[in-house]
Amino acid sequence: MKKTVRDIDVKGKKVLVRCDFNVPLDAERNITDDTRIVGALPTILYVLEHGAAVILTSHLGRPKGEARPEFSLAPIAADLTEKLGRNVWFKSVPSVVDDEVKAKATALQPGEVMLLENTRYVAGETKNDRAFAENLASLADIFVNDAFGSAHRAHSSTAGVAEYLPTVMGFLMEKEVKYLGDALTDPKRPFVAVIGGAKVADKILVIENLLEKADTLIIGGGMAYTFLKAKGYEIGTSLLDVDSVGLAGGLMKKASEKGVELLLPVDVVVGDEFKDDTPHADYGADAIPADRMGLDIGPNTRELFAERIRGAGTVLWNGPMGVFEMNAFAVGTRVVAEAMVSATEESDAITIIGGGDSAAAVEKFGLADRMSHVSTGGGASLEFIEGKELPGVAVCENK
Ligand code: 3PG
Repeated sequence: MKKTVRDIDVKGKKVLVRCDFNVPLDAERNITDDTRIVGALPTILYVLEHGAAVILTSHLGRPKGEARPEFSLAPIAADLTEKLGRNVWFKSVPSVVDDEVKAKATALQPGEVMLLENTRYVAGETKNDRAFAENLASLADIFVNDAFGSAHRAHSSTAGVAEYLPTVMGFLMEKEVKYLGDALTDPKRPFVAVIGGAKVADKILVIENLLEKADTLIIGGGMAYTFLKAKGYEIGTSLLDVDSVGLAGGLMKKASEKGVELLLPVDVVVGDEFKDDTPHADYGADAIPADRMGLDIGPNTRELFAERIRGAGTVLWNGPMGVFEMNAFAVGTRVVAEAMVSATEESDAITIIGGGDSAAAVEKFGLADRMSHVSTGGGASLEFIEGKELPGVAVCENK
């Protein structure tokens, strides 16, 4: 068990809180999805209400060691000022920590908040540079890592800084690790894992680890066609991960050896082209026309997948079932999301969305609040499900 902010006394201390404020912005630099900011508020408020001064830090995008204004955290400071109902001091400093920032941190009073500029303005950040980590640490007495979305990165602000300060988890990190961790180590059964997305190669380790844990593994989305190909089916012009056909065959063999039920689409929605308004029709998964492509799971598959999901004790989902960004091919992804809502609300199942595209999909369908947990980490949740220990989690002290 890792220590959290609940396990330490923060009164009168300066607390450096690493958040993942890497949120999407539009051309005018308005925040278009504030889920990660909202997710960080419980930790920030807890630390403030327990008598600490808070120094917030995060990266945003990939400015590659340059102070590029389009990657400034200024919009986040404004948003936080509004959400917290108190001023969040912010100055865009290219080196992130300079004399003025140091002086401000020294003078910061309990209940006050400041936000540092984008950690990736400094080239050392992504190299886990010790000097930069020490510089960040010099501002505070305690380090709270609440940036689950960045926990798979061993950077100065996510890992290195822990060498210099007592380090605990924030509540968002705790919640993420609990939901994902419990699903993998002690799932309520049957444990149904739903994996989609485009490339088999990106999800190999995820599937391999889940074959050790899950009762049923459902495979949909673009990667399903590589599995169908491995079964010897004609897949037309559907997405094919040529190099992974052998691997897909091996995974199916492994599933059957382990007694894990592996479900593939039995029918698909087929279109002429990769376009929302392309003419489309349903075909058996073994009868895709040579000149057409599968873009979503078909009606029988939706029913099959939904039935397994509704009967699950735990559902872990990563990766859409079709091209959900196009309305004509979003039905399969929506049906999986709705089946997860039924599982949560009607049979008390634990339902977890493993970040990235599936989180975007449930958000788009307005169903995010009806899942047990929607991870704020894309890459981080994938690596977690692969069974890796994430550096940002590893640096938090054990109880
Ligand atoms: C994410 O959005 O996945 C995290 O914020 C990490 O960002 P990165 O992939 O640029 O390290």
